[in-house]
Amino acid sequence: MSKGIKIVTIGGGSSYTPELIEGFIKRYDELPITELWLVDIEAGKEKLEIIGSLAKRMIQKAGVPIDVHLTLDRREALKDADFVTTQFRVGLLDARAKDERIPIKYGVIGQETNGPGGLFKGLRTIPVILEICKDIEELCPNAWLVNFTNPAGMVTEAVLRYSNLKKVVGLCNVPIGMKMGIASAMDVEPSRIHVDFAGLNHMVFGLNVYLDGVSILDSVIERMTDPNNEMTMKNISGLAWEPDFIRALGVIPCGYHRYYYKTSEMLAEEIEAAETVGTRAEVVQKLEHELFEIYKNPELDIKPPQLEKRGGAFYSDAACSLINSIYNDKHDIQPVNTRNNGAIASIPNDSAVEVNCVITKEGPIPIAVGDIPVAARGLVQQIKSFERVASEAAVTGDYQTALLAMTINPLVHSDKAAKQILDEMLAAHKEYLPQFTQPVKV
Ligand code: G6P
Repeated sequence: MSKGIKIVTIGGGSSYTPELIEGFIKRYDELPITELWLVDIEAGKEKLEIIGSLAKRMIQKAGVPIDVHLTLDRREALKDADFVTTQFRVGLLDARAKDERIPIKYGVIGQETNGPGGLFKGLRTIPVILEICKDIEELCPNAWLVNFTNPAGMVTEAVLRYSNLKKVVGLCNVPIGMKMGIASAMDVEPSRIHVDFAGLNHMVFGLNVYLDGVSILDSVIERMTDPNNEMTMKNISGLAWEPDFIRALGVIPCGYHRYYYKTSEMLAEEIEAAETVGTRAEVVQKLEHELFEIYKNPELDIKPPQLEKRGGAFYSDAACSLINSIYNDKHDIQPVNTRNNGAIASIPNDSAVEVNCVITKEGPIPIAVGDIPVAARGLVQQIKSFERVASEAAVTGDYQTALLAMTINPLVHSDKAAKQILDEMLAAHKEYLPQFTQPVKV
């Protein structure tokens, strides 16, 4: 990589792209990007143009020589790329709204990445990411794939299992969001906080927390029991934890754990929201509309603060720090999704986990944590089984495998409901699930 760096962002028309641009600008001295290709599909063309113009204005204001290219031709963009970042949404927010609305009719959580919604997002996304992997193999075999597309854990699992790519990392902003939340709750600079992360994507725990190298786990747990603690995310309800449960658990759960440990309250909130303000996808659709109106303003040349209403806070820091550390062989520690390789004892070595890693130019080296506490371990293993079966269903288009995935998901309470939800969702998303009508051979 002695020439300048070429980055390709698939799903470049996403409202989150200004986050990335800001991150690249901030790190330009260390990360000399010469070409940034934003790729989208025909349906995202208008958004891509709006984002592309804003990106160019931000880059011009910063005075850095990054060339921005906009294209609907993914293959043209990928040629000789050094890093490929993926942040697309198959079926757009309309599909997410169905993922959120259909399950609640059956008394099951409707969520973007958990339960039936997560399964269907995986079924729609995995075939597309595997096509992208084939293109990468052919057109830029030395590139790193940095996947941010949800469900990021299941997608990483599928890429590790069903593609030939070795240089792949899955990334999420939940760990950095937890670290920032802890720093703010403890009223200290985030750089003084270190968290031992381990688990799966959207199922990650902080096993220990240090302030200047000294464990403060007990005080953080105590802070979490306060219903007004700052450790929440914009896209997840901050419903208070049962204090004695959190103390007994003894590790820090992520926001998404509320769907598993407070299922009935979360479902009740979802039902109420669906009847009043709309599901999260519907709220986000309105927010997106406002954001793109703001992005269109030719005077705007920074990332607008309104973007902070979305769940993706710190996304740019996570993505850009990772790329920076791979490029500069930094050997610093970052939580990413990668092959377990023994880091978490109770998860198979060849499965994707979200764990602290030393980031090198050869990729992430996972740091062994021993194991997740026994009380949390079973849930993590169950979700891993779900992700594996779901990935297989996504690749094979096999109905029974999809039903198996739906039924073993801990948020789905019966095989009968699983089948009803599966059938309704297969019909609702038919357009984006060709593998279920024309099965493919693995
Ligand atoms: C968090 C999660 C992301 C998710 C996002 C949703 O950041 O880590 O995986 O996509 O929230 O946010 P939204 O604003 O779209 O509901």
